[in-house]
Amino acid sequence: MTWTASAPSNIALIKYMGKAPGNQNIPLNASLSYTLPNLTTAVELIANPGADSDTWEPLSEKDGFIAPQLSIQAQTRFLKHLERIKLLFNCDETFVVRSANNFPHGTGLASSASSFAALTKAAVLACSACTNTPTPDISYQANLSRLGSGSSCRSFFEPWALWENEKVNAIKLPFERLIHQVILIDTHEKEVSSSEAHRRVSQLPDYPDRKVRAEARLHDLIQALKNDNWTEAYQITVDEFEDMHALFNQCTPSFSYITDKSREILETLHEYWQAAQDGPLITMDAGPNIHLLYRPTQQEMADNLKHELISRGAHVI
Ligand code: PMV
Repeated sequence: MTWTASAPSNIALIKYMGKAPGNQNIPLNASLSYTLPNLTTAVELIANPGADSDTWEPLSEKDGFIAPQLSIQAQTRFLKHLERIKLLFNCDETFVVRSANNFPHGTGLASSASSFAALTKAAVLACSACTNTPTPDISYQANLSRLGSGSSCRSFFEPWALWENEKVNAIKLPFERLIHQVILIDTHEKEVSSSEAHRRVSQLPDYPDRKVRAEARLHDLIQALKNDNWTEAYQITVDEFEDMHALFNQCTPSFSYITDKSREILETLHEYWQAAQDGPLITMDAGPNIHLLYRPTQQEMADNLKHELISRGAHVI
């Protein structure tokens, strides 16, 4: 028997950064994300009766899906999440897990949100079937996925997801269909993983102030989007990612993902905004890449800006 599922990634405009103590991936502050159907992971679970343990292998490449080369550490983390779901269902089947992304591996693009969401969906289907149990609802699946990768819980909802403590839901906001671009700055494996970033940030003595700032911005951003105030949404999202990256500099030991190239491109983007009094929303995750979100009516701007960035040597997808 084979069970398949796929799930999109998401990009946070108000960032989840810092976790409550324990292993539950409970965020210290609420976050808001936009779901990215253009960055998807597909997972296949194949029953492998009699095998000693679950194993991972790349999913054969088709329909634009590219198999990742998962490190042993990443495979172990993935299979541990499957084990967690099997235990919950009392499922004693063994599986071969296959996965692939529809975006290139090694681009530095985070795939943990889409891959853990897809694995959770496939594992829940497989374990429900193997144990004759009803399939749990999406909310339950999202919380289960959160235990494997925090940000993956937002990938169960679209186009906007709001996550606070153990509650994650879709939130109705204008701008339901946005155009997404990523400027790839550095495609190497990150030296500081997002888990480690959460750990160091959570230890900052003035973390409580960060929670207040992030949640005030969350309120303001929701208001700005509801009021159709794109310029304000741009200002808030820039303040937000810069705030998160400033925290990284304050950690012990301190670290940074923003490179000279990221800074140079950010400057170009802000100049563009100044000249046009319009532009894309700009954000960065725990990495050097820059994510842009445009309104559907900005398609021509998106094409032109992409062209201009490419002509300056940037890699835009
Ligand atoms: O889900 P994690 O542990 O990979 O954390 C993701 C953290 C950020 O991408 C930096 C922010 C976010 O809210 O997605």
